[in-house]
Amino acid sequence: MQLKGARIVLTGANGGLGRVLARELANAGAALLLTGRDPAALARIDLPAGCDYQLLQADLTHGGGIDSTVQAARSFGANILINNAGVANFGLLAEQDWNDVERILATNLGAPIRLTQALLPWLTQQPEAAVVNIGSTFGSVPFAGFTAYSAAKAGLRGFSQALRRELADSTVRVIHVAPRAIDTPINPPAVRALNRTLGSATDSPELVARHIVAMLANDVAEGHIGFPERFFAWLNGFAPGLVDQGLRGKLAKIKQHATKA
Ligand SMILES: NC(=O)c1ccc[n+]([C@@H]2O[C@H](COP(=O)([O-])OP(=O)(O)OC[C@H]3O[C@@H](n4cnc5c(N)ncnc54)[C@H](OP(=O)(O)O)[C@@H]3O)[C@@H](O)[C@H]2O)c1
Repeated sequence: MQLKGARIVLTGANGGLGRVLARELANAGAALLLTGRDPAALARIDLPAGCDYQLLQADLTHGGGIDSTVQAARSFGANILINNAGVANFGLLAEQDWNDVERILATNLGAPIRLTQALLPWLTQQPEAAVVNIGSTFGSVPFAGFTAYSAAKAGLRGFSQALRRELADSTVRVIHVAPRAIDTPINPPAVRALNRTLGSATDSPELVARHIVAMLANDVAEGHIGFPERFFAWLNGFAPGLVDQGLRGKLAKIKQHATKA
């Protein structure tokens, strides 16, 4: 779809991926409504000169934050929503606080569904519109140490596919992209150490942002970033037992990094 002249709501815009994605989208000619919780971090987003943008402070786990984002998106004339805000919490489920589990589900799954639902009446009136959901490899290859996050991202993948099918006769496209690890602040030192131990590749936010922009520009509905992650996502779909076996061999190392001291 056309990015020059597109008007995009980007959540999580002040995060590691969001701030780079904002720049890529601006370079492609889009106007931006950038949201996050931290106003000071939002103000530090580095955009190209002449970019048409607005900043909005909103916590998307609260109804008030959803309402203010929808109101701002309508005034802005948005035709694309990118659900990028997210949180993670590496650790074994048995050792996690329920409040953290709830926060993971609310931010990564509840908020994008709620925001999308609230903005849909507006988006369906636009001649060309899109909802882009930023998932994760863990949504297709659920991973030990990331149970709630995997559940939320698997839910987001299911939501994206169901919504795409529901909107097939509308002007709204639904895009779901599943990056593997990205070099951003969402990954604390324990996750970075685990990735090094397991030899898991980490992409730069620039590479992932370019991939997302290309998917939007070329109308690609589903994308996994990285190989062999793309292969394991496919394998987990029809032979999860094989993936169980493969990951069983990594469990001791995962537990070593995930277990609280
Ligand atoms: N980094 C990875 O390894 C990786 C891999 C696959 C997928 N992803 C996905 O990529 C997306 C971007 O993550 P990132 O790596 O850029 O992480 P990040 O640097 O931690 O940024 C997360 C962003 O989400 C926002 N956010 C968190 N909770 C929020 C809430 N309740 N309401 C509104 N905004 C909230 C944060 O805003 P504040 O800072 O203002 O709270 C921040 O802008 C996420 O959906 C993540 O799951 C990341």
